[in-house]
Amino acid sequence: MNFPVTRLRRLRRTEAMRSLVRETRLHPGALIYPLFLCPGEGVRKAISSMPGCFNLSLDEAMKEAESCAALGIGGLLLFGLPAEKDEQATGAWADDGIVQTALRAFKANRKLDSLLQIADVCLCEYTSHGHCGVVVRDGNHYEIENDSSVALLAKTAASLAAAGADIVAPSDMMDGRVAAMREALDGIGREQTAIMSYASKFSSAFYGPFREAADSAPQFGDRRSYQMDGANLREAMREIELDVAEGADMLLMKPAMPYLDVIRAARERFDLPMGAYQVSGEFSMLHAAFERGWLEPERAMMESLVSIRRAGADFIVTYFAKDAARLL
Ligand code: PBG
Repeated sequence: MNFPVTRLRRLRRTEAMRSLVRETRLHPGALIYPLFLCPGEGVRKAISSMPGCFNLSLDEAMKEAESCAALGIGGLLLFGLPAEKDEQATGAWADDGIVQTALRAFKANRKLDSLLQIADVCLCEYTSHGHCGVVVRDGNHYEIENDSSVALLAKTAASLAAAGADIVAPSDMMDGRVAAMREALDGIGREQTAIMSYASKFSSAFYGPFREAADSAPQFGDRRSYQMDGANLREAMREIELDVAEGADMLLMKPAMPYLDVIRAARERFDLPMGAYQVSGEFSMLHAAFERGWLEPERAMMESLVSIRRAGADFIVTYFAKDAARLL
């Protein structure tokens, strides 16, 4: 039946009506907040390109974690900035690594019981060259070697799980890492630790501000030989299929807003719980517009998050997690 019988504006007239028929909702428990842990004490170093985000020493990170728990946020995604870097990414898998140490402290704090501790698993913050895997050189030529990288990543995942991570989240994009991690976790009796695979991760300019935040910019070359080409949707489906077959428990799609079609396609094809990462550049560009008065901060932030949920993500990793949770 068409107009005048059908009038879609009837259901838009009041907030009560709009709320009743709203199809997509946000919830603090479905938001994950990234934390950047650094050595020292009392350190709260602002990240210039990401307003409101900091490199935090453990004591400061503990306060931040408590405030996230109090806001009902679902979890933390932990990244570490080690005091020293080397070719073997020793800081990533050391028992007393920066994230391992934080995990032990967080797990001992009962106020954080409601907060999932998710450890990002990658080598780029810990390697002297800033690549996500092991670099082998041959004259002027270099390669990021897959299988030796996977061995270190599996070792890293096991040490993070042993330190108390509820979930490990590989973001390196090496082939075969999920299966290797599952085996390594089971091998140390951590069969209950879940794997959230960054199954579909594109090589993106939108990671720019993160490389300042995590001090992880590659010293030469780029990440195109391991992260996906932004033009490829079918390849993203193959990446996900393989990670599911290897034993991933959950998927993480990344970036979010420039790749909403990929999130939608994955949602229609796979039944695993799926999150999306609203990455640093997405956050920074919105903030840049807020600072100039070009966008309304609260509305634009909420709209960006709803768009990601509507595309099909169950949960969202976002630097807006605290700001959004306060409004919800
Ligand atoms: C590590 C990693 C990156 C991000 C998450 N994990 C950087 C990269 O791949 O270059 C980006 C997150 C963001 O931009 O917010 N490999």
